[in-house]
Amino acid sequence: MSRIVYVNGAFLPEEDAKISIFDRGFLFADGVYEVSSVIGGKLIDNDAHTRRLARSLDALKMTSPVPLEEIPAIQARLIAENAVDEGMVYLQVSRGVAERDFTFPETEQPSLVMFTQSRPIVKSKKADSGISVVSQDDIRWGRRDIKTVQLLAQSLAKQAAAEQGADDAWMVEDGFVTEGSSNNAFIITTDGTIITRQLSTDILHGITRRAVLDIAAAEGLTVEERPFTIAEAQAAAEAFSTSASSFVMPVVSIDGKTISQGVPGPISQKLRQRYIELAIEAAT
Ligand code: PDD
Repeated sequence: MSRIVYVNGAFLPEEDAKISIFDRGFLFADGVYEVSSVIGGKLIDNDAHTRRLARSLDALKMTSPVPLEEIPAIQARLIAENAVDEGMVYLQVSRGVAERDFTFPETEQPSLVMFTQSRPIVKSKKADSGISVVSQDDIRWGRRDIKTVQLLAQSLAKQAAAEQGADDAWMVEDGFVTEGSSNNAFIITTDGTIITRQLSTDILHGITRRAVLDIAAAEGLTVEERPFTIAEAQAAAEAFSTSASSFVMPVVSIDGKTISQGVPGPISQKLRQRYIELAIEAAT
């Protein structure tokens, strides 16, 4: 049975779902997206993802073809039709079909597509072992706070990491880590302080990042939101990344240097466990 996807109002088998070659998402990467995780058939922190979608759309003067409050029902139907227990729902809004022209079309008919991906995220071999990352120059544009589909720089960074035998890339600009290729980057110093870069246009305002910082505060952990270097990360007691697709992912090697004992640290593990517990409790 083939996967059912959503395209502009229709629920279709994926092989029948089509988008025009004139869609501005295809020609200009003129589109934004969200990835919400699913546990037990329910969405995790989906309201926050919808709010960030609204912010991304506003930033690009784009509108959604369906009211944002109707999106959860479409996500829920896709989850049900595809019997997704654990995995993700991807959604993308693009400025839609128009004659190729750099300026925006006078009348816009934005496109909305959504699909599901089933895969285990709670029980994860990578989370058990921890992952390796390598640094890569952050060559992205200046509005990384907008979740656009122009992901080539991140794709190049992840590919370079894979070619070096690493699991992921942490991106570096002006000597400081911005974020991971598709996640936010954290370190924990030897005195137990959690450090992650402060919000700005330099990074995506991660939904999982926010939830983990709230958990850290509730656990009485000290947090500093500031940039850090690769050298500081290599000397840290623990490191991890956060995203909707991997929750809290321990990092045990950075540019070939083993972090601490080379296994996921206790605070990272605690944050992962607590994040998953709270996510399941609040899932919709
Ligand atoms: N990526 N930073 C970047 C560059 C990202 O692409 C992502 C998410 C994050 C984490 O954001 P959140 O916690 O809201 O997922 C940070 C998604 C999962 C992706 O592109 O697949």
